[in-house]
Amino acid sequence: MCGIVGYIGPRETAKVLIEGLKRLEYRGYDSAGIAIFNQGKVEIRRKEGKLIKLEELIGEETFDGKVGIGHTRWATHGRPSDENAHPHKAGRVAVVHNGIIENYLSLKEILKSKGHIFTSETDTEIISHLIDEFIQEGNSSLDAVRIALDKIKGSYALGILIEGDERSLLAAKKESPLVVGIGEGEYFIASDVPAVLPYTKNFIFMEDGEIALLSAEGVKVFNVKGEEVSKEPKRVNWNSLMAEKGGYKHFMLKEIFEQPRAVIDTIRGRLSEEKGDAVLENVHFAPTFLKKMKRVSLIACGTSYHAALIGKFLIEEFCRIPVEPDIGSEFRYRNPIVGESNLLIAISQSGETADTLAALREAKRKGTTTLAICNVVESSLAREADQVIYTHAGPEIGVASTKTFVTQLVILFLLALHMGRELGILSKEEGKALIEELVRVPHLMEEMLKASNQVSKIARKYLHARDFLYLGRGINYPIALEGALKLKEISYVHAEGYPAGEMKHGPIALIDREMPVVVLATKNEVYEKVISNIEEVKAREGMVIALASPSDREIVHKVDDVIFIPETIPSLTPILLTIPLQLLAYYMADFKGTDVDQPRNLAKSVTVE
Ligand code: F6R
Repeated sequence: MCGIVGYIGPRETAKVLIEGLKRLEYRGYDSAGIAIFNQGKVEIRRKEGKLIKLEELIGEETFDGKVGIGHTRWATHGRPSDENAHPHKAGRVAVVHNGIIENYLSLKEILKSKGHIFTSETDTEIISHLIDEFIQEGNSSLDAVRIALDKIKGSYALGILIEGDERSLLAAKKESPLVVGIGEGEYFIASDVPAVLPYTKNFIFMEDGEIALLSAEGVKVFNVKGEEVSKEPKRVNWNSLMAEKGGYKHFMLKEIFEQPRAVIDTIRGRLSEEKGDAVLENVHFAPTFLKKMKRVSLIACGTSYHAALIGKFLIEEFCRIPVEPDIGSEFRYRNPIVGESNLLIAISQSGETADTLAALREAKRKGTTTLAICNVVESSLAREADQVIYTHAGPEIGVASTKTFVTQLVILFLLALHMGRELGILSKEEGKALIEELVRVPHLMEEMLKASNQVSKIARKYLHARDFLYLGRGINYPIALEGALKLKEISYVHAEGYPAGEMKHGPIALIDREMPVVVLATKNEVYEKVISNIEEVKAREGMVIALASPSDREIVHKVDDVIFIPETIPSLTPILLTIPLQLLAYYMADFKGTDVDQPRNLAKSVTVE
């Protein structure tokens, strides 16, 4: 949670910081603030609420300083308020922080006994006091930061300004993401790459325990002992337009519409039609590993967990290996049974989700081979897993996951295909047939998107419903969960996803003429069963919105509304079913006037437990 940014260079510092924070606001929007050197002193402006409030506060004010830091907050310790907003300043030291300091209370007591006076309820404030304490003892800026960080337990990405050293900006990382952007005579720090993409494509990805010292002359990186380490900047191939709205009303809508492109980019270069196999650049299993493998664990949170549930169907079908999907926060505290004969696949858009990361670490500790599926390049998960496959969805700014979810499904399909081929469960011909169908998917997604007007009318029709039920069976069941989650999180309408066969064991009691039921009823081996479930809902006067196959003309007479889903094989149908459900949630939210891209209480990257 929280986003940090920093700048040193000739541009108007406040403008660079605010622009960077706009791109990071998806990480938290409870308050925002900046600190800039102005004639040797650090000036701070900070304000509770969204970034716009900070912009209003700054108004026409200008700062002549060439070094600054900024922050957008998702509150953990201390409610959203002006006092708890970052940057926090003590003595000569101003700090912005993303992470959690676990031992802040004991440090606070020690610092208080030395005369430090605290003005916020945050854990962050102790960092500025602690560094100031060591500055006062006569240490250099770098040493003061190093000694202070040695006393801190917890996670942090930090931007630090120290009065008396106004030609420098310091940054440090442990367990929270931090990149250093390398421009021409200008340098940046940020929680992620898109924040500073308009200025540079060259980045140093900081490792845990490293401290960066940025000055007009360049960037130096040091380890915990204060020794300089050599870091090669890497070039990223995202462009800044990817992080713009491009004429759409919301990022979420834009990201829904760019899904066919995201899938094409994710597939590109990864198919061997000739061999009927997927070519996954970074995936290399030891020769006998797959044959000896007893089980696959799929670990994720939220929407990524729904991808994991689909992954179970794909891997079990293509590889005939048992698969156990698990929620990160459940897996990590269960003393899970994993080890050398298991493969653990961790799925995460951000690659920074604390529970997913902890689950990966626990599995590694037990000797499990690990693989990450991530969207954010060089994220913690990507770096810590033994192997990584990237979804090439591009930056996702809307807080609700859309294009990153469908690209996760594509990667799971490719991985299941590849492992199935390696294991000899899938023949070359079967592999070829699957590839042939997969390459049609982006075109079918374009077709699906043409239903957006129809979906918007359905959203208007059911706008006043207070609860929704989503039903699906088999591989479509996780999409029922995903549809319900999307509706809840952006429109604040209560929704539940259920396996259709379970309805009679409880949820059927909820059904009456006020309750819309979204049923995923595409043609597959459980189609007849789903139709029976529709009959059960209609018998109790429920309203049914069906997602059905175009060849199914009968269904029109059974339900209230039908959205037709282009025909493909059952293992790829979830990708197409996702689109109308994303659109339904989007239009409901937009008509209700909620903050679609930044829903209340949520943050894009959940780096806390
Ligand atoms: C829902 C959503 C969240 C995330 C979850 C995991 O739209 O975005 O449920 O899926 O917080 O995030 P990642 O995939 O970054 O690990």
